[in-house]
Amino acid sequence: MKRTVLIVFAAVMAAVVIFACQTENGKSYETRWAGTELETIIDSFEDQLGGFDQTMMETNYRYNELYWAGQDENWGYAEYQLDKILGSMEKGFVRRPAREASASQFVNSTAPRLMETIEAGDSEAFLEHFSRLAASCNTCHEMEDVAFVQVMIPEARTSLVRF
Ligand code: HEC
Repeated sequence: MKRTVLIVFAAVMAAVVIFACQTENGKSYETRWAGTELETIIDSFEDQLGGFDQTMMETNYRYNELYWAGQDENWGYAEYQLDKILGSMEKGFVRRPAREASASQFVNSTAPRLMETIEAGDSEAFLEHFSRLAASCNTCHEMEDVAFVQVMIPEARTSLVRF
């Protein structure tokens, strides 16, 4: 997450620099690394922001946190993480619209069902629906030709957040 914030901050700062360095005819820009033509600059930032892999690295972290939040019955943190996963995916679909259709089951079915168990503070139902969520992560990976990414239920605790 910190990384995303930094990237966004860098993009905003660069936009300010670009604006400040704009020449009178508005066609050439001075930047540190992003190029001099507007199109090149936009390409540079799009490249730096990355594709769906960035979304998935964030999702993977949050998925793990979500699981341990559920184990701890830290429902506020669980809700926070599931919300962030969906928000991160939304941004991912802006960058990679072709991925969205395969995520339909995840976004419209398994994630909302899991959210209901979190809102109800129901530990047993949480476990069941977390497993379904994991299965729908893997369904999407199969649909998107990355079936070699099979996620499982976390076994060893890595979350540092305690309730
Ligand atoms: C759009 C459907 C979709 C859903 C839903 C989805 N993934 Fe992914 N996932 C992908 C795609 C596509 C890639 C490969 C991205 C790429 O090649 O740029 C990927 C890659 C990954 C990777 C490898 C990332 C890397 O580059 O190191 C992990 C880990 C991962 N997903 C975890 C998850 C978890 C956990 C969930 C569920 C909480 C999930 N994914 C849900 C589509 C999805």
